[in-house]
Amino acid sequence: MPTSQEWKTFYAWGLAHGPLVMVEVMGQKMCIINSYRVADELLNDRSLIYSDRPSMPMVNDLYVGPVYKKHRRAFHHGFNRRESNGYQNVQTRENTLLLEKLLTDPDKYAHHLRITTGAIIMMIGLGYPITENDEFVRIAEAAQLAMVSAARPGAYLIDLLPILKYVPEWFPGASFQKVGREGRELSQELQNKPFAWAVKQFEEGNALPSFFKDLMENKEVASDDPVESQHIIKCATAVMYATGADTILSSTLTFILAMLHAPHIQKIAQEELDRVVGDRLPTYADQDALPYITAIVKESLRWESVIPLGVPHRVMQDDVYNGYFIPAGTIIIANQWGISHDDQVFSDPSAFRPERFLDKESPVPDPSTIAFGWGRRICPGRFLAENSLWLHVATMLACFNITPAVGADGKEIIPPREYTSGMASRPLPFPCSITPRSKVTGDLIKHSVASLPESY
Ligand code: HEM
Repeated sequence: MPTSQEWKTFYAWGLAHGPLVMVEVMGQKMCIINSYRVADELLNDRSLIYSDRPSMPMVNDLYVGPVYKKHRRAFHHGFNRRESNGYQNVQTRENTLLLEKLLTDPDKYAHHLRITTGAIIMMIGLGYPITENDEFVRIAEAAQLAMVSAARPGAYLIDLLPILKYVPEWFPGASFQKVGREGRELSQELQNKPFAWAVKQFEEGNALPSFFKDLMENKEVASDDPVESQHIIKCATAVMYATGADTILSSTLTFILAMLHAPHIQKIAQEELDRVVGDRLPTYADQDALPYITAIVKESLRWESVIPLGVPHRVMQDDVYNGYFIPAGTIIIANQWGISHDDQVFSDPSAFRPERFLDKESPVPDPSTIAFGWGRRICPGRFLAENSLWLHVATMLACFNITPAVGADGKEIIPPREYTSGMASRPLPFPCSITPRSKVTGDLIKHSVASLPESY
């Protein structure tokens, strides 16, 4: 098994052996899918039997077990398209504050974005307004990191060889032990602390609209049993900030990196923005009139993957697909990075080319149907995530030029497309220059901040 950037090795296996590759690691079968059609036919069309999850330490602690279906029901209730659109005011507010930070302190763009995505998720999840050096954000980020490293394919080995659980932490190569222990502690903190805060607000009648408040007011969505319901709400809100903030951050960073690799795209987008929106900030109401911006969002989700190998599924009963036998218990990995780079489907896959989604003559799959996963396990946060990404892209391009930083030698720095390993991936830190597009940009942003309502 490769130990980093697994998706690239799995992709190469696909090129060598075909779109469906079976490997066996210490008796555990894993099926790796490298084709959109195969993933669609197995994970979507046969979702009924392909929607189990392998046991993943830490991830499971937080989010599986017999009540899992109830979690999912709570999520799909809280974040269907209509409910997700109901949170656009939160996204608009935090995004406007982001623009102001990019105006005054552009070099720390990645830090500002991290705070913004955290603020959006905490407000929508719990109605919690974050502060500088926020404790809950710190816990959420640490728990998220532990979860991401614990959920890599190599990490399942601990389940295949349970004796590994007894290897002491100091033993060379046994860092998974530490990750597991710290992860469990963090997941407890993550579930308990923010939840206790939110319950107090709710009981005092001060809770702001949020996923949490919605579920507290509709407890039967989670469960008929009030004790179980409380538990599900606690876990679901914790999962939300463990999964939501970093994923949106990663896709926005990919968009910024892409602007450095494909500067001409930025010009086309800005021409569309100037023509359609003029000299105000784009809003969600402009979405239909800005197809090129929407195409950039789609291409950002395709060009590099937030979750390159998806989240593994497990087939619950024996199956036969195109003559291949897939036994019950096989772990199914949809190589979302590989599927998004299949040149039979996306021509010149390495190029950042939003136009591919505007060509009505030869339609290609919408990357949302890849990036957010499959079947019954499809990401319930996808509408919320797309809304956030869309506004970041539209308003950043309306206000700023995103260009390469200039090195000490006077040459432009085009950062390589290097990404972190782990279940969720994001670009390694890179420098870039974010400058206002015109003299009035500053006034426009300051005026927009001043016009924000006092509170949500
Ligand atoms: C760009 C942002 C995001 C991406 C690319 C993304 C991607 C994914 C993927 C690939 C899966 C696994 C699907 C599968 O098993 O086939 C997933 C699951 C999940 N996502 Fe997201 N996600 C994003 C944002 C969010 C947000 C904002 C939330 C919270 C509101 C969220 C909550 C979840 C949850 C709870 C699951 C588990 C679903 C299950 O196991 O049934 N995600 N996501």
